[in-house]
Amino acid sequence: MSKITSSTLLKFKQEGKKFTSLTAYDASFASAFDSEGVDVLLVGDSMGMVLQGHDDTLPVSVEDIAYHTRCVRRGVKRALLIADMPFMSYATPEQAMTNAAILMQAGANMVKVEGGHWLLETVTKLTERGIPVCAHLGLTPQSVHVFGGFKIQGRDANNAQRILDEAKAIEAAGAQLLVVECIPAPLAKAISEALTIPVIGIGAGADTDGQILVMHDLLGISSGYIPRFSKNYLKQTGEIREAIRAYIDEVEKGIFPGSEHTFS
Ligand code: KIV
Repeated sequence: MSKITSSTLLKFKQEGKKFTSLTAYDASFASAFDSEGVDVLLVGDSMGMVLQGHDDTLPVSVEDIAYHTRCVRRGVKRALLIADMPFMSYATPEQAMTNAAILMQAGANMVKVEGGHWLLETVTKLTERGIPVCAHLGLTPQSVHVFGGFKIQGRDANNAQRILDEAKAIEAAGAQLLVVECIPAPLAKAISEALTIPVIGIGAGADTDGQILVMHDLLGISSGYIPRFSKNYLKQTGEIREAIRAYIDEVEKGIFPGSEHTFS
């Protein structure tokens, strides 16, 4: 069993093999996801909502992410492990380097940052210093108060063009992976085709190179509501490991996400 690296994901993209990703916050779930074949695990700042019960991700700290990264690390043998950089932990390149180092030393293989043009210098500096970066565009939840709510992004032509331009720029700056969240499927397709690096979608249609879900949504146990772009696999299978396998199978076959999970 070989470990998944950014090179593996690049190869998957070149071969047209769809890959899967899930959020994970503890060793037991991480081990189940990993052993069933989920390729990428993200210690997401979504923990602010699904673990901590907040209304958004802003209260999450670097220490929170570091603690859960250490937990998840112990459960992972194969998957690539990404740690989210929380709100305001990368406001300057210097802060980004200090805090990314903490997350890498907690066991992450890569860090994820939300944002576009303003982040280019930070992405380059992190990469130059040995810290691989996954960028995140579209509905970036740390900007929820700027957006005025959790709203689909890139619906008008100007914003769609800006997101596409930012995706290209962030790749040129050195990012090795990109998450696009809640954008119209045609825009996600255009970004995936324009970029060499793999693009992971959530609420972005079926044409990205990989898919990611928040594990609580996959298992239908999120407090509050399950987003329209998500799917409760536990409901259809009745067993956690079968739910994970069904998710992997449906992504690989292009069944998930379907049109009912997709924005136009
Ligand atoms: O924090 C998170 O879980 C995320 C995913 C939704 C991509 O950023």
